Amino acid sequence: MKNDNYKRTLVTCALPYANGPIHIGHLAGVYVPADIYVRYLRMRGEEVLYVCGSDEHGVPITIKARQQGCTPQDIVDKYHAIIDDSFKALGINFDIYGRTSSKVHSKNAAAFFKKLYDEGKFITKESEQYYDPEAKTFLADRYIVGTCPKCGAEGAYGDQCEKCGSTLSPEELINPKSKLSGAQPVKKETTHWYLPLQDYEQWLREWILDGHKEWKSNVYGQVKSWLDGGLQPRAVTRDLEWGVPVPVEGAEGKVLYVWFDAPIGYISNTIELLPDSWEKWWKSPDTKLVHFIGKDNIVFHCIVFPAMLKAYGDGFILPENVPANEFLNLEGDKISTSKNWAVWAHEYVKDFPGKEDALRYVLTANAPETKDNDFSWKDFQQRNNSELVAIFGNFVNRAIVLTHKYFEGKVPAAGELQDVDRAALSEIPALRESLEKNIELYHFREALKDAMGIARVGNKYISDTEPWKVAKTDMARCATILNISMQICADLAVAFEPFTPFAAQRLRKMLNMDLNWDMIGQDELIPAGHCIGEAELLFTKVEDEEVKMQLDRLAAIKAEKEAALKEEAAKVVAPLKAGISFDDFDKMDIRTATVLEAERVPKTDKLLKLTIDTGIDKRTIVSGIAEYYAPEDMIGKQICILANLEPRVIRGIESRGMILMARQADGKMRFLTPQETLNNGSQIS
Ligand code: 2FM
Ligand code: ZN
Repeated sequence: MKNDNYKRTLVTCALPYANGPIHIGHLAGVYVPADIYVRYLRMRGEEVLYVCGSDEHGVPITIKARQQGCTPQDIVDKYHAIIDDSFKALGINFDIYGRTSSKVHSKNAAAFFKKLYDEGKFITKESEQYYDPEAKTFLADRYIVGTCPKCGAEGAYGDQCEKCGSTLSPEELINPKSKLSGAQPVKKETTHWYLPLQDYEQWLREWILDGHKEWKSNVYGQVKSWLDGGLQPRAVTRDLEWGVPVPVEGAEGKVLYVWFDAPIGYISNTIELLPDSWEKWWKSPDTKLVHFIGKDNIVFHCIVFPAMLKAYGDGFILPENVPANEFLNLEGDKISTSKNWAVWAHEYVKDFPGKEDALRYVLTANAPETKDNDFSWKDFQQRNNSELVAIFGNFVNRAIVLTHKYFEGKVPAAGELQDVDRAALSEIPALRESLEKNIELYHFREALKDAMGIARVGNKYISDTEPWKVAKTDMARCATILNISMQICADLAVAFEPFTPFAAQRLRKMLNMDLNWDMIGQDELIPAGHCIGEAELLFTKVEDEEVKMQLDRLAAIKAEKEAALKEEAAKVVAPLKAGISFDDFDKMDIRTATVLEAERVPKTDKLLKLTIDTGIDKRTIVSGIAEYYAPEDMIGKQICILANLEPRVIRGIESRGMILMARQADGKMRFLTPQETLNNGSQIS
């Protein structure tokens, strides 16, 4: 394939926030597909630049720093290193993994802002924003907490309630408080710079809605609905301390909004890597720019950043495509950093050393390309064991081991081909073509199926032709079969490089060959007489024990969360009932009594029949407390009863009175008892 006119490709991946490690959702949505794309282009000999870095600004980072009693810089230093290591461990090797807290970025982002400012591309607006009068600082929405107006949860943020998921504004919070000082926030005037996005609306319509109908429907659809809704000026500055300072006079205490500086980070990181030649990548119409992102970043990469670049002018190119993915769930639930519901990349590489490819493979096979998708550990195990190990690995292992066994590790020459040989070989070019087309259209799941198709061809071929049996009677035929098997192994070493680069590298080492993309499907890719290396396992099984460990970990997280929710639920206090007079109260005859006998009421789960001494008489009470007390728990206990309640017949037993119980919101109940034993019949008032 490869039928566009570009000379080189600049691939960017969304800069992950350095306020936590990355998880499989990030990998499946952005980084694994981008890496497949880059590796593919490189195998084809294309010139590619692969840029990423940490997004180190934004309010959540400052909140985390406050919580942990350290500086925002400490937080980003910690997570930048963890994220960088995770990428490397998974074979995702950017040309640069930069940082938005770098000097180069700070200078570049400030200069970008300044040019737009000097050229009058911004408007200013005064608005009232929340201010903490004690901490003497403006408050981002996240810094304001209060009671959620929708679900009543405490601790809802000014932009969102994490309990019920509602999007909120600080005005809606009941009893809002500053997270910094606990003071009640007040409204105060402030001025900010805005990019008037509406001025770019027509141009964006023409560029994307008319000019890029080929973009993925989720991306195109989101852009269309934003444009149809009408664009508004967007603030590009904030009243905060952490960020790139706004480089104009009178802007003390203001920084660039994180979503203004982060995409400029792509450019800054390129400048950092290539100070003298970065413009070739950003300002040449011969460069194809592709942004890999998740669906929550679409508006910023398709509307805001392009409008910034358009406003800037100076030859900056725009993305040729923005292949955004949807989200990945984990075991049926939304991945959540705050709830620790995730498979963390840095933990995975520790738990599954040598199985980096397996994760890349499963995340690609299950990639949320057109809709949200699910990752489950069982599926992970199944795909690894019955696809990578049983098909790809098994075929390669048999082919290499047998070539050593019968031909001392030298690729034997093929004799005359039979139909079965020709049939197997003839499948490869079509699979290669489909694989190329799918990668170039960003259909990575389908592309992986094509690559796996080649492994299936090989595995079926060697199973059908059974060279280990043929070797007993016809060594010439065995030689042909193994020659063809070796050709297919070489095809696989190339075709799988984008998907499972560690295995592909091991396979190239076993084959003892340098290979490039154009070789796939060629005749005599490995020449007869070529010496191959020793057999090594390409993949190993995922054992039941390993899956169990992961599932147990998730179950423990779930149990912990449920316990916390229960605890919260138990704290809810029922609203006060309507007022009553003293006379109403005085009508109730409440007294102490002692339980003499207790037994379950037959055929019920909840009822106990108690015989009690009220000081006045001995009587029977039927009470719904069997869920909380066994009969033997009650005998001898002093309780309080409403003694003058009308008798009622319950399950054929006359019950005279009611035991006073305290009931928590979660349903837990306990009987009331005097702080010290009193005579039965003592009145309670
Ligand atoms: O959503 C995120 O994780 C952002 N940090 C992505 C930024 S992408 C780019 F603009 F830098
Ligand atoms: Zn809520």
